[in-house]
Amino acid sequence: MIIGLIGFGKVSRNLVKLISSGDISFVTSLEGRSQKTVNAINDSEIQVLDTFEEVAAASDILISANSPKSALQVARKYGKFTNGIYLDLNNISPKTTFEISKHVSKFIDGAIIGKIDSNHPILYVCGKFCNDLLFLDEYIDTRKISDSIGDVAILKLLRSTYTKTLSALLIEASELADDCNLKEEFFEVLSLTEGDGFKEKSISRINNTLNSSKRKSEELEEIIDYFENNDLTMVKAALKKLNQ
Ligand SMILES: NC(=O)c1ccc[n+]([C@@H]2O[C@H](COP(=O)([O-])OP(=O)(O)OC[C@H]3O[C@@H](n4cnc5c(N)ncnc54)[C@H](OP(=O)(O)O)[C@@H]3O)[C@@H](O)[C@H]2O)c1
Repeated sequence: MIIGLIGFGKVSRNLVKLISSGDISFVTSLEGRSQKTVNAINDSEIQVLDTFEEVAAASDILISANSPKSALQVARKYGKFTNGIYLDLNNISPKTTFEISKHVSKFIDGAIIGKIDSNHPILYVCGKFCNDLLFLDEYIDTRKISDSIGDVAILKLLRSTYTKTLSALLIEASELADDCNLKEEFFEVLSLTEGDGFKEKSISRINNTLNSSKRKSEELEEIIDYFENNDLTMVKAALKKLNQ
């Protein structure tokens, strides 16, 4: 079996590491890639073809893991050249996912959840062809959500609704605690109910949010756009907080 990769960043590199089998080989291309990616591909042992069109044509499974901005363009450009499964792992909105499904025949909407460079990320998949990917469970925890394209993308939005809103609240509460000179105590009392490791997880969450507040704000805007007919009082407040 041949798995083609469009994009050779953290996600693809970890997949190559995890899906290690004599029966599966990986292919990609250097076409148009940066020096960083060219070096990473040359350092790996995967096969290199001249173009991504050839990669698509050769693949039983074609994985698109490049960037949210290029996901649709990549699908439009290369989706038609593969007869295999097309698995999109980009962090994209349900609207983009539905758009991609128009350009690709055997489309699977996927997401990797969990720390990408860990040994135990989870691959969630949906779409009517996703049973064909469940064999990957031997290498990476692979879970089917449903036969409906978009369900994984929506699930990602629901997850962000909770985590990003919670992060904004955490930032506010810890700022208040800091003002009262009770930050240590604040985390200590919360740990009693939230469990061990709460302080470390919270601080990591706060720093992560503050360090990429623009991207987090964009993700909140995406939630507001997609669920425009729902009550989003908390999400809108979180967006206001992150924009401050
Ligand atoms: N990292 C995570 O934790 C994580 C988790 C789940 C999902 N994702 C999603 O998975 C995707 C990949 O993430 P990553 O962390 O692996 O990204 P990354 O480390 O930034 O790598 C992106 C790779 O895609 C390549 N690329 C970009 N545009 C391309 C195009 N038009 N055609 C072919 N290759 C292209 C880049 O090549 P150049 O260097 O030449 O630009 C690079 O090799 C993103 O959409 C991200 O949102 C990431």
